[in-house]
Amino acid sequence: MRPVFTLRHSGNNMLTPDTAGGVFQNLVDGTWIASSSGATFENRNPANHDDLIGRFQESTPVDAERAIEAAARAYESWRLVPAPKRAELLFRVAQLIAERKEQFARDMTREMGKVLEETRGDVQEAIDMTFFMAGEGRRMYGQTVPSELRDKFAMSVRQPLGVCGIITPWNFPMAIPSWKIIPALVCGNTVVFKPSSLTPLSAVNFVKVLEEAGVPPGVVNMVTGGPDVGTVLCTHDAIKVVSFTGSTTVGRLVNQNAAPGFKKVHLEMGGKNIVMVMDDAQLELAVEGCVWGGFGTTGQRCTAASRVVVHERVYDQFLAEFTRRVKALRVGDGSNDAVQMGPSISEAQLAKVMQYVEIGKQEGARLVTGGNRLTSGDYARGWFHEPTIFADVTPQMRIAREEIFGPVVAVLRCGSLDEAIAIGNDVTYGLSASIYTRDVNRAFTAMRDLYTGIFYVNAPTIGAEVHLPFGGTKATGNGHREAGIAALDVFSEWKSIYVDFSGKLQRAQIDTE
Ligand code: UN1
Repeated sequence: MRPVFTLRHSGNNMLTPDTAGGVFQNLVDGTWIASSSGATFENRNPANHDDLIGRFQESTPVDAERAIEAAARAYESWRLVPAPKRAELLFRVAQLIAERKEQFARDMTREMGKVLEETRGDVQEAIDMTFFMAGEGRRMYGQTVPSELRDKFAMSVRQPLGVCGIITPWNFPMAIPSWKIIPALVCGNTVVFKPSSLTPLSAVNFVKVLEEAGVPPGVVNMVTGGPDVGTVLCTHDAIKVVSFTGSTTVGRLVNQNAAPGFKKVHLEMGGKNIVMVMDDAQLELAVEGCVWGGFGTTGQRCTAASRVVVHERVYDQFLAEFTRRVKALRVGDGSNDAVQMGPSISEAQLAKVMQYVEIGKQEGARLVTGGNRLTSGDYARGWFHEPTIFADVTPQMRIAREEIFGPVVAVLRCGSLDEAIAIGNDVTYGLSASIYTRDVNRAFTAMRDLYTGIFYVNAPTIGAEVHLPFGGTKATGNGHREAGIAALDVFSEWKSIYVDFSGKLQRAQIDTE
């Protein structure tokens, strides 16, 4: 592995022009304003702590309440805008993001750390989702069914719910906000958005585009800050939907906070995804998939291929080639095109990675490559860690069961497809799984029996597309899905409508001659 760095240009020239002194504000009721706290927090580059990206508002519950009240007022008129007209604004949003894709990707790499190729993909995912959901403005299909009675009409329509509280993570700083905010808007809801404090610049970029496209004041509000803000978004009376992506621990709190108010809660949480490599797999393809699935985004995806279970007949061969490829990964500042893997997002996240490396060693797993923080030269200024593989991992080890969210992959051995499936299912999470095989029977058996929300054949566990449902089972989610048409089920509710044009009282279910 060799370090790759470029010298960063200093200064704030990447900041949008109206942010004097690199201080970014909240968007409430169509106005960019400071928090009532008067306090801000710093956003720094995880590849280089010396690079201060900007300061963002350390908001208070009062700021969150004001934003919710603005969203509640805006809802009264936004819900009445015809859905195809709401969609016209969203098409414009998608176009504006596409025009600024490169700048947004560069800002994102700077604050989040993943390589430019991937931040371009993140922005592209937001573009795709926005175009897809804007198209729903002219569909949003309901049902029309025959009535059991004469001269009576029966149908169902989707209705918005009101103000949505949107709480998003740092690993997909533009894609995930778009998965939530855009379907919320097309359905006729209004939004208060709290982005992760580690990636607020991408949130500002996204919200500014919404504003520029003509989304009316108060329809989308953004309040940056910590858990206090999030708590208000989960508990305020005017909030009708809470959509959260993040850890299972925080998701549980969100659920508990929102329960007394009977809010609709959509949760997207952890994963411990598995790639199953069978003895008939195309091994080169499987290795390539595991490198991308395990170390893409520095392993910081909820879909990351953090477990690989390999058939004993090809285990040694797979492991040798996987190790060779992972050792060759170039780690460094993601803004350098030659780099393949960036830093962890923060000191805390890096500490968690290092802690799990220790746990893996103590559990008796075999460390085949990596295992160390990178500190030499320019690495010292960022949160870098070697891409790490543990082999001979057994299913009960913590490194095989717990989400690490970093560049650590556990390789396990199996003797059959049945054993691989049993290992795959024997964790608390259920987001994504995959199989490498050339046997169609094995592929379909695994597809049926892995209890996950997403499944791949001859591809890694990452790479979901925006027009199919995204989400998981067990501790990954609470039954909802985002993306695809499924997202409309989170951000709308059904109203069934009966129109009786018989001119007399007709009684359903009552026997008549
Ligand atoms: C996430 O990891 O939180 O399928 C989202 C994928 C991406 C989305 C990942 N399209 O890996």
